[in-house]
Amino acid sequence: MSVIENSKLTVVGAGSVGSSTAYAALIRGSARHVALYDIATERAEAEVLDLAHGTQFTGSSDIIGGSDISVVEGSHVVVITAGAKQNPGQTRIELAGVNANIMKTMMPQLLEVAPDAIYVIVTNPCDVLTVLAQEATGLPPERLFASGTVLDTSRLRWLLGRRAGVSTSSVHAYIVGEHGDTEFPLWSRATIGTVPILDWQTEGHPPMTVEELDEIAVDVRDAAYKVIQGKGATNYAIGLSSARIVEAILGDEHAVMPVSPVLDDFHGVSGVALSVPSIVSASGAVPIRETTFDEHELALFHRSADALRSVAVELR
Ligand code: 2OP
Repeated sequence: MSVIENSKLTVVGAGSVGSSTAYAALIRGSARHVALYDIATERAEAEVLDLAHGTQFTGSSDIIGGSDISVVEGSHVVVITAGAKQNPGQTRIELAGVNANIMKTMMPQLLEVAPDAIYVIVTNPCDVLTVLAQEATGLPPERLFASGTVLDTSRLRWLLGRRAGVSTSSVHAYIVGEHGDTEFPLWSRATIGTVPILDWQTEGHPPMTVEELDEIAVDVRDAAYKVIQGKGATNYAIGLSSARIVEAILGDEHAVMPVSPVLDDFHGVSGVALSVPSIVSASGAVPIRETTFDEHELALFHRSADALRSVAVELR
């Protein structure tokens, strides 16, 4: 993609997710300038050097960074990945306490040096932390949101594309709700091309059954646990998902993506950040109010909201 002139992305956190996000942004040319900020000086500087050493082979993006918060200055987008990560078998929600404290301390500091940026929360539990970060900064909901189920939706489209024998980009299906254990697919609106998901078939790819779709939904919901069990963390797909969100913002794309802003009477849900199909542009993320749920999906959406609302209350 052509890099947006003078666009600047800062990734906060030089752990595996943050450095993968910076790496993906460099390779994809998501921003002209990429900064990687972490209070751990040695780690931050080493990651920046390692990334910089490869920039001959990437596009025209450059990389800077370190532990001085001044590297964040002038950012148009700030992606926050700093915090504790899940251990094998640990839920994202179990990270809430420690990461909420990091978020409450960090957000005011970041806003001082990047007051006009769009903030994307990746640190988990990203939906709950989005509510706390929005309260701590007073930013309007569209300017601070979580990456949410963009990653889960990518997992879903990959599994469906493989099962249906089509390109992932031709699978139009979304995971919505919590980026976590109460997430669910919007099957009522899922199509491959223009064909409703349960009507799809091609040679060698018979129609899918409801049971198969349920299994795919469970595979998506539990995907991170499986990867974390095997390699200790997830990083590549969340890095690519975050870079893609950055591009929609910097390119003012008005792209439809299931990111997670704090909702205001969205199908009766307010004051909770949940992923719903949203328009992502230079002004941030705006939920698409015309998104429809069937009765079962509406019940799942409220279940997701209730689960997260109770966590946020405990953290305040
Ligand atoms: C993921 O879903 C851990 O939230 C991260 O990969």
